[in-house]
Amino acid sequence: MYRSRQKENLDKDVLNFLSSLNEDTNILIYDILGTQAHCLMLNKIGILTSAELSKILSSLSKIKFESTNSQNILSNELFLSEDIHELVESIVIQDIGIDIGGKMHTGRSRNDQVILDVRMKLRDDIIDICELIINIIKSLVEKSKEHKNTIISLYTHLQQAQIGTFSHYLLSYSFSLLRDLERISSSFDRINLSPLGSCAIGGTGIPIDRNYTASFLGFRGLLENSIDATSSRDSLIEYLSFLSILMSTLSRIAEDFILWSTSEFNYIELSDRYSSTSSVMPQKKNPDPLEILRSRTSIVHGMLIASLSIIKNLPSGYHRDLQDLKPLLSNSSKIVKESLLIMKGVINTLKVNKKNAFNSANKSYGVSLDIAEQIVIKYHIPFRKVHKLVGALVQQAIKNENISLSQLSKQDLNKILNLLKIKIDVDDLMLIIKDTTPEKSILFRKSYGSPNPFQQNEMVNSIDKSLLFYSKAISERKEMLHTAFNNLEKEVILNTFVEDKNK
Ligand code: ARG
Repeated sequence: MYRSRQKENLDKDVLNFLSSLNEDTNILIYDILGTQAHCLMLNKIGILTSAELSKILSSLSKIKFESTNSQNILSNELFLSEDIHELVESIVIQDIGIDIGGKMHTGRSRNDQVILDVRMKLRDDIIDICELIINIIKSLVEKSKEHKNTIISLYTHLQQAQIGTFSHYLLSYSFSLLRDLERISSSFDRINLSPLGSCAIGGTGIPIDRNYTASFLGFRGLLENSIDATSSRDSLIEYLSFLSILMSTLSRIAEDFILWSTSEFNYIELSDRYSSTSSVMPQKKNPDPLEILRSRTSIVHGMLIASLSIIKNLPSGYHRDLQDLKPLLSNSSKIVKESLLIMKGVINTLKVNKKNAFNSANKSYGVSLDIAEQIVIKYHIPFRKVHKLVGALVQQAIKNENISLSQLSKQDLNKILNLLKIKIDVDDLMLIIKDTTPEKSILFRKSYGSPNPFQQNEMVNSIDKSLLFYSKAISERKEMLHTAFNNLEKEVILNTFVEDKNK
């Protein structure tokens, strides 16, 4: 339809190569809403008469109605369109004729139109994803309440380090996910600016009203500069990078759960509903959903890199390369939404093998630091010396066939104390060691942010507060968009039936 200069039609293979029609089903609804707002504005400034506006709006409404099944519109073979913008305009022109339909693209270009649609879609994706993150954090907090006293080993270098609780572990990821929420939520305001009316790159001579269209479409303001508005994609890539970080968070949780559900760890068991099996080994229970989540993380990361590479050497202005960002964005959003749902289900349904996790922690010498710190506090001996003492105790326990520290004999303790010239009453040392059970080690550590139950309560309170804040912010955004689209819809209805009213 646009080929005013060319004499020939586009080669069929070239059309297939160029076309973004399939991908564009994701933005069809936004394209129609944007076009409705644009045409209302064209009427306000006198480019479209009320009768013309009415015809265009009712034609657009037909497309909107049919677009509930996007295949309907794509199967419209009358038009050889390169994208959804061309297709919608072609359908309107075919429906009501070029004399009226041919006016709807006045004062805009596909270059501002496409980025308008993408920004509108991303706003909805951001809202959905923020809600899903809130839900997964709620699941983590709920699960943590069940496991306040469930002892596990904490690991550094994947070696048993200190004694912890499963709840404290779950809360740790609530905090990472809160930061993901904060980041993704913050991208909303940068994306929620209207590029519409920037035209191809340098604005238009038509006396358009950009604020008028922006407010119908729920934007908080305008992208000021027409070159920037049509050719910058940084805010979109920022969003994609935030999704990539979020996927890394989810992937790390997946990795823990995969590891902890092995027979070697056997700390947790995934629900049957969240595990696969083997075609040949009947005993198998495999964590396939978590493995897919891990690989999808790599795919999202790849899409971020692809998008950075696409823009890195584009001169300013619109280039068709930018079209290829659309599937990268929409596929990433889709993967993220699905992954958040899957991970929430995994968390809600997993069982913890408390006994196994406890036994492993109990055998781990994970109380060593707690023992050392009690000696420091009681005897005012420099920590470095006590480090040597407890290290020597652990060495001896391992030598005695991996017995626990509390099973060391008085002779062994005396020998080590003498060797290191440390003056501590041996009976008292024995008492400290015996008394430092995994459970007590948690109570002994009271520092801010530690697994101590009081600290955990504080964490839950602060997470709840943040969740409340973000839930409110998201409801307000939804309400704001809802109000804008309601107004648009009212105005569309009012102006669609204006002709009949005049008769
Ligand atoms: N299908 C294009 C895209 O997705 C729309 C804009 C095309 N503009 C142009 N001047 N070729 O980016």
